[in-house]
Amino acid sequence: MKNTMLRSLRSSQSSSSSAAVLRRGYASEACPERKVTVLGAAGGIGQPLSMLMKLNPLVSRLALYDIANTPGVAADVSHINTRPQVTGYAGEEQLGEALEGSDVVIIPAGVPRKPGMTRDDLFNINAGIVKSLCLAISKYCPNAVINMISNPVNSTVPIASEVFRKAGTYNAKKLFGVTTLDVVRAKTFYATKANLPIADVNVPVVGGHAGITILPLFSQATPTANLSQEHIEALTKRTQDGGTEVVEAKAGKGSATLSMAYAGAIFADACLKGLNGMPDVMECSFVQSTVTELPFFASKVRLGKEGVAEIFDLGPLADYEKEGLEKLRPELLSSIENGIKFARQ
Ligand code: NAD
Ligand code: LMR
Repeated sequence: MKNTMLRSLRSSQSSSSSAAVLRRGYASEACPERKVTVLGAAGGIGQPLSMLMKLNPLVSRLALYDIANTPGVAADVSHINTRPQVTGYAGEEQLGEALEGSDVVIIPAGVPRKPGMTRDDLFNINAGIVKSLCLAISKYCPNAVINMISNPVNSTVPIASEVFRKAGTYNAKKLFGVTTLDVVRAKTFYATKANLPIADVNVPVVGGHAGITILPLFSQATPTANLSQEHIEALTKRTQDGGTEVVEAKAGKGSATLSMAYAGAIFADACLKGLNGMPDVMECSFVQSTVTELPFFASKVRLGKEGVAEIFDLGPLADYEKEGLEKLRPELLSSIENGIKFARQ
């Protein structure tokens, strides 16, 4: 199982050079101590994500927190014979202990969509959950790297930034909206359509994480494939609607959990590698940014010892992608502003 996980983690890396880096990392006998905390660990994403983090040899301590049901999840995951020491925490009174000393905090806490809902429809419930969790983070582990999964990511990341700013603990380099699932989907759909070996494919996805704010840059996909404009447009739409495709298929039983756990594990692994000083660790993520005029924007980021080490420009865009970028601006700005306004209240 562990070897399979490592193989799949390797094959999902952005470039062949980062695959080599990954191999070096896992070969190392002296991985530093790293505590990872999952908030919402008993949920649909939380459980498989906790298992995947238990398989990651870069983790030494794994804290699993939820408002309920974490003792069972923690007992279950703790029996896997891998490096991380697992502890479960249930209820608000144990949140501080769960967070203390964390290097990376992954947040999949909150409600998922049902058919007919947009991610913005989750705002009313999830904004409050994220706000209270971020208040605790600013108190108990203000230096941790945050991986925000809870939707709407386009608003929850700005909420977190504002909570941390108010608490005097905001470090823009350590706050990430997890958009890896968009990249995972774009790679899968592109590789399938172009009939390419899936492990070799890379596709940057920029913008945000909802509908048209998700902008896959197939013009920069590698290896290149001679797909028609019609195919590119269909792939773009499928990537943008990937979440809805799963929500509808699950017919009221939630949204993407297993593919999200995989994507979350990939992104957390990249953060840990960056913290450990491994070179050339790249992922797309929704971060505070000056790539556009929007205060937060997803693009390719290099991860380092302090979190964000470098944010890359968008590079040359096809006309179709330029149009997509123009269209997403107002929607993304409005979601960002909603988040900031909520946190300031
Ligand atoms: P879920 O309902 O299965 O699990 C959510 C968990 O959060 C539950 O166990 C619940 O008890 C817990 N929770 C609620 N309030 C909490 C609090 N205050 N503190 C700690 N835990 C709390 O939902 P899910 O399918 O795991 O989805 C979780 C979130 O992730 C949703 O908002 C969903 O939209 C989002 N999501 C994001 C992406 C992405 O790409 N970023 C992908 C899929 C889902
Ligand atoms: C996804 O992209 O699968 C998630 O954001 C969940 C959703 O509501 O679509």
